[in-house]
Amino acid sequence: MPDLDIHQQLQNALESFRDPETGRPLSKTGQVTDWVVTDGHVRCRLALSSMFQPIASEIADRLRDHLIAHVPGVSSVEISLDTLYRPAAPMGQIGLKAKAVIAVAAGKGGVGKSTLAASIALTLERLGAKTGLMDADVYGPSVPHLLGLEGRPEIVDGKIQPIRCGSMPVMSMGFLIGRDQAVVWRGPMLHGSITQFLRDTAWGELDYLIIDMPPGTGDVALTLSQLLPLTGAVIVCTPQEVALLDASKAMAMFEKTKVPILGIVENMCGFTDPESGKTFDIFGRGGARSKAEEASVPFLGEVPIQIALRSESDEGRLADVLQNPRIAKPFEDVCRALTRSIADQIAARPSIGAPLPVLG
Ligand SMILES: Nc1ncnc2c1ncn2[C@@H]1O[C@H](COP(=O)(O)OP(=O)(O)OP(=O)(O)O)[C@@H](O)[C@H]1O
Ligand SMILES: [Mg+2]
Repeated sequence: MPDLDIHQQLQNALESFRDPETGRPLSKTGQVTDWVVTDGHVRCRLALSSMFQPIASEIADRLRDHLIAHVPGVSSVEISLDTLYRPAAPMGQIGLKAKAVIAVAAGKGGVGKSTLAASIALTLERLGAKTGLMDADVYGPSVPHLLGLEGRPEIVDGKIQPIRCGSMPVMSMGFLIGRDQAVVWRGPMLHGSITQFLRDTAWGELDYLIIDMPPGTGDVALTLSQLLPLTGAVIVCTPQEVALLDASKAMAMFEKTKVPILGIVENMCGFTDPESGKTFDIFGRGGARSKAEEASVPFLGEVPIQIALRSESDEGRLADVLQNPRIAKPFEDVCRALTRSIADQIAARPSIGAPLPVLG
């Protein structure tokens, strides 16, 4: 078969492969370039923005398999990855420039929401996505403590400057009030501070804004959903039966405000004794996976009990402990599953037929 024909067939095959970020077929986005075809061997370049860097090689693998399956005569495909810049559009009246805003929530206190929110944000950032972390627990902010961050945010040109963990911007009520100071909030103040965190903070341009939600009641969830279109919620639960019931409550709360559930994470699902290597499922295991199946939402993975995670984050060293590959691995898996779930949400959007955003 002449090469020209193969080029046409390769282009045609891109029609049925979506860009994860826009949901548009790759044949229309100009993200695949520099085709070289020799004797059934194909080389090309695929450009993705930082938003999908966490699963870039996985997307390249899928594209390779797709081309081999759809174009007769292609025996091997080699894809080089590039990064393209694609700006984040400001969200509604808030003006926040983020491609996805994700609430990390649970129906219950103490299941590890803050630990997971902070670890997911740090891991997404490390995997190449521009990420910010907002602590929406204005009653009991714990993010500054977990990350060992202090200092008062400055105001520059009318914008609150977030405190940075490495390069990642972080905003929390903990930076505005003294340590151990109790806050008594009334409804309007709560709404006001969440609005300020989103609208008046110099977040810069983000792929992901991860929001650590307070335990229990839905008033913060409601406020958030009034201010911006949340991309979705990640529900954290522990394996105990009662915690799973609480997870259902949390899901119902988001569903009421039409916020999609991006998935469930099972936290504290087992403990491996470092001495014997034996694993003990202290609170049980697998409940969240079956709960996710039952509710037809993605299961994003399990995070075992890791003593260092607790002891180090108590000392403000969560970012350091995540440098340990063994501790970081479950969070990487969760982040990859989360970005896959977001790609699925995007692909399912009714606006997918809309014109293409401008490629930078
Ligand atoms: N996988 C884990 N392994 C070990 N310790 C953990 C793990 N996940 C969370 N923890 C510990 O459990 C405690 C509660 O976690 P965290 O503060 O993140 O929960 P939370 O759901 O945000 O709580 P709250 O409802 O009070 O906001 C902390 O001491 C934390 O270090
Ligand atoms: Mg918390």
